Amino acid sequence: MKYAFAFISFTLLLWNCTARNEEDQYGTDDPCETAAVSYSQDVSVILSANCTSCHNDSNPTAGLSLEGHTNASTSALGGALMNRVQRPNGDPLLMPPYGQLSECDQAKLRKWVNEGALDN
Ligand code: HEC
Repeated sequence: MKYAFAFISFTLLLWNCTARNEEDQYGTDDPCETAAVSYSQDVSVILSANCTSCHNDSNPTAGLSLEGHTNASTSALGGALMNRVQRPNGDPLLMPPYGQLSECDQAKLRKWVNEGALDN
C-alpha cells in the first residue's frame, strides 16, 4: 500500500514536470507576441488601459497627456515614458503608480520605442 502511494506520487510528479516543460517550451498559457508591435494594435491599447485615466487631454496629470500618437510618441522618444514604466515595484516614480505593467506589456512598449515610436 505504501509503495502504491509512493508510485502514484512519483508518477504525478513526473507528469507535472512534463506538463510544465511543455508550457515553458511553447508558452501555451501566456503567449507574448512582440514580433510585430504597432501603435494601433498594441501600444494605444496598453496606454488606454493603464495610463490615460490620469494622463488624458482634458485632465493631463503632471502636464502629460498620453492620448493619441503625437502625445505618446513625444513622451516615448524623450525617454520619460520608458524611464517611468521600467522602474521596480515600490519605486515612487513607477508608472502606473499602483504597480508595474506585465512583462509582456513592458516588452511591447520597449519594442515600439526602440523602433522609433511609429504611428503604425
Ligand atoms: C493613477 C494616476 C496615474 C496613472 C494611471 C498613470 N500616471 Fe503617470 N503620473 C501620475 C502622477 C500623479 C504623476 C506626477 C508625479 C510623478 O512625477 O511621479 C505622473 C507622472 C508621469 C510621468 C512624468 C511626467 C513627464 O512629463 O515626464 C510620466 C512619463 C508618466 N507619468 C507616464 C505614465 C505612463 C506611461 C502610465 C501608464 C503606464 C502612467 N503614467 C499612468 C499619475 C498617473
